[in-house]
Amino acid sequence: MCKEKNEELIFKDKLEDVVNGFGEGSQEGAKIAIKNCQEDFGFVSVSHQRQIAEAFGLGEKIISTIIKFMPSVKESKIGYEIVCCSGPRCAKNGSMEVLKTVKNALAIDFNETTEDGKIRLRSQNCFKKCKYGPNIMINGKFYHHMDKEKTQKIMEEIIK
Ligand code: FES
Repeated sequence: MCKEKNEELIFKDKLEDVVNGFGEGSQEGAKIAIKNCQEDFGFVSVSHQRQIAEAFGLGEKIISTIIKFMPSVKESKIGYEIVCCSGPRCAKNGSMEVLKTVKNALAIDFNETTEDGKIRLRSQNCFKKCKYGPNIMINGKFYHHMDKEKTQKIMEEIIK
Protein backbone atom coordinates (compact mmCIF):
# COMPACT_ATOMS: atom_id res chain seq x y z
CA MET A 1 0.00 0.00 0.00
CA CYS A 2 1.37 3.42 -0.82
CA LYS A 3 2.63 5.60 2.01
CA GLU A 4 0.04 8.33 1.52
CA LYS A 5 -2.86 5.86 1.68
CA ASN A 6 -1.38 4.41 4.84
CA GLU A 7 -1.06 7.82 6.41
CA GLU A 8 -4.68 8.63 5.54
CA LEU A 9 -5.83 5.44 7.26
CA ILE A 10 -3.74 6.15 10.35
CA PHE A 11 -5.19 9.67 10.42
CA LYS A 12 -8.73 8.29 10.16
CA ASP A 13 -8.16 5.86 13.04
CA LYS A 14 -6.68 8.54 15.25
CA LEU A 15 -9.47 10.93 14.33
CA GLU A 16 -12.09 8.35 15.31
CA ASP A 17 -10.40 7.92 18.68
CA VAL A 18 -10.52 11.67 19.34
CA VAL A 19 -14.18 11.88 18.27
CA ASN A 20 -15.01 8.98 20.58
CA GLY A 21 -13.16 10.67 23.41
CA PHE A 22 -14.66 14.13 23.06
CA GLY A 23 -17.95 13.42 21.34
CA GLU A 24 -19.43 14.92 18.17
CA GLY A 25 -19.78 18.67 18.08
CA SER A 26 -16.79 19.21 20.37
CA GLN A 27 -14.62 22.11 19.24
CA GLU A 28 -12.06 21.16 21.89
CA GLY A 29 -11.86 17.71 20.32
CA ALA A 30 -11.49 19.24 16.85
CA LYS A 31 -8.59 21.30 18.19
CA ILE A 32 -6.86 18.14 19.42
CA ALA A 33 -7.47 16.47 16.05
CA ILE A 34 -5.94 19.47 14.27
CA LYS A 35 -2.92 19.34 16.60
CA ASN A 36 -2.50 15.60 15.98
CA CYS A 37 -2.70 16.14 12.25
CA GLN A 38 -0.08 18.89 12.36
CA GLU A 39 2.23 16.68 14.42
CA ASP A 40 1.80 13.62 12.20
CA PHE A 41 1.83 15.27 8.76
CA GLY A 42 3.52 18.61 9.33
CA PHE A 43 0.45 20.38 7.98
CA VAL A 44 -3.37 20.32 8.02
CA SER A 45 -4.57 20.30 4.43
CA VAL A 46 -8.02 21.35 3.24
CA SER A 47 -8.85 17.68 2.85
CA HIS A 48 -7.76 17.00 6.46
CA GLN A 49 -9.89 19.93 7.58
CA ARG A 50 -12.87 18.49 5.74
CA GLN A 51 -12.36 15.10 7.38
CA ILE A 52 -12.12 16.68 10.82
CA ALA A 53 -15.25 18.76 10.18
CA GLU A 54 -17.21 15.71 9.05
CA ALA A 55 -16.00 13.52 11.91
CA PHE A 56 -17.08 16.06 14.51
CA GLY A 57 -20.23 17.14 12.67
CA LEU A 58 -18.91 20.70 12.57
CA GLY A 59 -18.86 23.12 9.65
CA GLU A 60 -15.63 23.45 7.67
CA LYS A 61 -15.70 27.15 8.44
CA ILE A 62 -15.51 26.43 12.16
CA ILE A 63 -12.44 24.26 11.58
CA SER A 64 -10.70 26.94 9.53
CA THR A 65 -11.55 29.54 12.18
CA ILE A 66 -10.06 27.34 14.91
CA ILE A 67 -6.93 26.98 12.78
CA LYS A 68 -6.62 30.75 12.48
CA PHE A 69 -6.10 30.86 16.23
CA MET A 70 -3.45 28.14 16.11
CA PRO A 71 -0.48 29.96 14.59
CA SER A 72 1.76 26.88 14.60
CA VAL A 73 -0.61 25.00 12.29
CA LYS A 74 0.34 25.06 8.62
CA GLU A 75 -2.24 24.39 5.95
CA SER A 76 0.13 22.92 3.40
CA LYS A 77 3.46 21.20 3.12
CA ILE A 78 5.45 24.34 2.79
CA GLY A 79 8.70 25.33 4.40
CA TYR A 80 7.67 28.81 5.44
CA GLU A 81 4.41 30.53 6.03
CA ILE A 82 4.82 34.27 6.31
CA VAL A 83 1.90 36.23 7.66
CA CYS A 84 2.10 40.03 7.53
CA CYS A 85 -0.06 42.30 9.60
CA SER A 86 -2.12 44.55 7.39
CA GLY A 87 -3.89 46.23 10.29
CA PRO A 88 -4.23 50.00 10.66
CA ARG A 89 -1.92 50.45 13.66
CA CYS A 90 0.96 48.58 12.04
CA ALA A 91 0.28 50.61 8.89
CA LYS A 92 0.66 53.78 10.94
CA ASN A 93 4.05 52.54 12.07
CA GLY A 94 5.27 51.85 8.56
CA SER A 95 4.10 48.32 7.74
CA MET A 96 3.36 49.23 4.11
CA GLU A 97 7.10 49.39 3.47
CA VAL A 98 7.52 46.03 5.20
CA LEU A 99 4.73 44.41 3.16
CA LYS A 100 6.21 45.77 -0.05
CA THR A 101 9.65 44.44 0.85
CA VAL A 102 8.27 40.95 1.59
CA LYS A 103 6.26 40.84 -1.64
CA ASN A 104 9.17 42.09 -3.75
CA ALA A 105 11.65 39.68 -2.18
CA LEU A 106 9.36 36.69 -2.79
CA ALA A 107 7.91 38.00 -6.05
CA ILE A 108 4.44 36.90 -4.98
CA ASP A 109 1.32 38.54 -3.62
CA PHE A 110 -0.74 37.67 -0.55
CA ASN A 111 -2.43 34.28 -0.65
CA GLU A 112 0.15 33.03 -3.12
CA THR A 113 2.91 30.46 -2.85
CA THR A 114 6.34 30.72 -4.44
CA GLU A 115 6.83 28.68 -7.59
CA ASP A 116 8.88 26.05 -5.76
CA GLY A 117 6.03 25.64 -3.29
CA LYS A 118 8.35 26.52 -0.42
CA ILE A 119 6.96 29.80 0.85
CA ARG A 120 3.39 30.90 1.36
CA LEU A 121 2.45 34.51 1.98
CA ARG A 122 -0.64 35.64 3.82
CA SER A 123 -1.88 38.76 5.54
CA GLN A 124 -3.90 39.18 8.68
CA ASN A 125 -5.78 42.27 9.69
CA CYS A 126 -4.38 42.51 13.22
CA PHE A 127 -2.39 40.19 15.49
CA LYS A 128 -3.50 42.13 18.56
CA LYS A 129 0.14 43.01 19.13
CA CYS A 130 -0.13 46.52 17.77
CA LYS A 131 2.26 48.14 20.21
CA TYR A 132 5.09 45.95 18.92
CA GLY A 133 4.31 46.64 15.27
CA PRO A 134 4.92 46.52 12.43
CA ASN A 135 4.58 42.78 12.99
CA ILE A 136 5.12 39.77 10.81
CA MET A 137 4.84 36.12 11.73
CA ILE A 138 6.95 33.38 10.21
CA ASN A 139 5.97 29.80 10.95
CA GLY A 140 4.14 30.90 14.05
CA LYS A 141 6.99 33.05 15.41
CA PHE A 142 6.49 36.80 15.73
CA TYR A 143 8.94 39.39 14.49
CA HIS A 144 8.25 42.80 15.98
CA HIS A 145 9.19 46.40 15.17
CA MET A 146 9.92 45.47 11.59
CA ASP A 147 11.35 47.91 9.09
CA LYS A 148 12.55 47.62 5.53
CA GLU A 149 16.14 46.62 6.41
CA LYS A 150 15.20 43.99 8.99
CA THR A 151 12.62 42.54 6.61
CA GLN A 152 15.07 42.40 3.75
CA LYS A 153 17.60 40.56 5.90
CA ILE A 154 15.09 37.95 7.07
CA MET A 155 13.82 37.43 3.52
CA GLU A 156 17.36 36.87 2.29
CA GLU A 157 17.89 34.22 5.00
CA ILE A 158 14.69 32.44 4.00
CA ILE A 159 15.23 32.57 0.27
CA LYS A 160 18.85 31.37 0.20
S1 FES B 1 -2.46 46.42 13.58
FE1 FES B 1 -0.77 45.09 13.48
S2 FES B 1 -0.89 43.94 15.30
FE2 FES B 1 -2.60 45.26 15.38
